[in-house]
Amino acid sequence: MLNFEFKNPTKILFGKGQIANMAKEIPQDAKVMFLYGGGSIKSNGVYEQVKNALSAFDVVEFAGIPANPEYAVLMEALNIIKTRNITFMLAVGGGSVIDGVKFLSAAALYEGDEPWDILKNSIRTEHGLPFGTVLTLPATGSEMNSGAVITRKETQEKLSMGGPGLFPVFSVLDPQVVKSIPKRQLANGITDAFTHVLEQYMTYPIGALLQDRFAESILQTLVEVAPRVIKNPGDYEAAANFMWSCTMALNGLIQKGLPGDWAIHAMGHELTAMYGIDHARTLAIILPGHYNYNFEAKKEKLAQYGQRVWGIQAGTTEDMARQAIQKTVDFFHSLEIDTKLSDYTPDYEGTAEKISQRFTERGWLGLGEHKKLSPHDVEKVVKMSY
Ligand code: NZQ
Ligand code: ZN
Repeated sequence: MLNFEFKNPTKILFGKGQIANMAKEIPQDAKVMFLYGGGSIKSNGVYEQVKNALSAFDVVEFAGIPANPEYAVLMEALNIIKTRNITFMLAVGGGSVIDGVKFLSAAALYEGDEPWDILKNSIRTEHGLPFGTVLTLPATGSEMNSGAVITRKETQEKLSMGGPGLFPVFSVLDPQVVKSIPKRQLANGITDAFTHVLEQYMTYPIGALLQDRFAESILQTLVEVAPRVIKNPGDYEAAANFMWSCTMALNGLIQKGLPGDWAIHAMGHELTAMYGIDHARTLAIILPGHYNYNFEAKKEKLAQYGQRVWGIQAGTTEDMARQAIQKTVDFFHSLEIDTKLSDYTPDYEGTAEKISQRFTERGWLGLGEHKKLSPHDVEKVVKMSY
């Protein structure tokens, strides 16, 4: 196991009715900005609950943060934060709203001229404007981590940022919000969280026995609750397990002491930037090719995953590893998630070359747990997804 430090300062308020309890987590004299997305919270009752909880505060609202939070929209919010002297933000939404607020948290205190440089130049945020979240869509884990991904349509870019200053102060996780989530977004959430675990787990054996079991237990829980959540998102028990699995999949715990891969996400973000494909679906497109291309390096963990998560009983390491990849693809298909780029766009020719060229230009010359996946390899992996 590698050396590690572990600190996660986000306080979680989990369970029914917890939105009503968040006021005590916000400084009494705060000037609050309440940010949300396209309006789902207005039709499912979350908006009223938040308004009630914030009734004692001076509040400015900002609506309209789109899926794959857009830089130009966020810059409008930044302007209001500065002119209205906002001291605390509340993100109410899924990963997009929360990530947008993380960008604002960094940008509000950033001293340079162009906040995009935080993303372009990978500037870590040590201190941000404080914020809390009310999670409405289990998927990304953004509610308990310090990362964010921001999109810029103008340049077709989607880049990550982060730093210890970007953990939410608190996050409210009320599984009752799952009830109004459309099937497509439920499937996305399950697929995203599942792949988060795999990005941290599917590397090579490193003797981190507990982390392996943490990861496998989250995968098993997601497999178990997925059909229940899809069939009836109002099933509170299933929703609660789904929600907590997504949070635990990417709050730092299971990654401690491990080498991470994260190449699937790096390639996937390019597909969202180029074609607007939902984040989770880009992962399902890239994953099978990535595991088949890097088969030799990953086969031990693939076989272990096949045995422990999918119950594959017999065969050589290679057999079990190949079956494990197929089981994963079958799982995505069971959620009605297509796994080929050509299922999403007819204009896929040239995608692999373009992504490889972008990675070369950015100096991303070695991805994955061995930092050896070159732009040339990336091109081959993306081609396998056509
Ligand atoms: O905008 P509204 O009207 O609220 O509708 C949203 C949105 O259209 C809807 N929705 C959310 N909660 C709902 C609901 N509809 C009905 N009932 C509810 N309770 O769902 C749609 C998608 O929301 P979005 O926030 O975009 O989805 P998700 O949570 O999947 O977030 C995706 C973004 O997070 C990034 C992705 O790249 C993408 O930009 N990620 C962030 C990560 C992080 N910060 O750690 C890690 C991930 O790997 C990921 O990259
Ligand atoms: Zn993801």
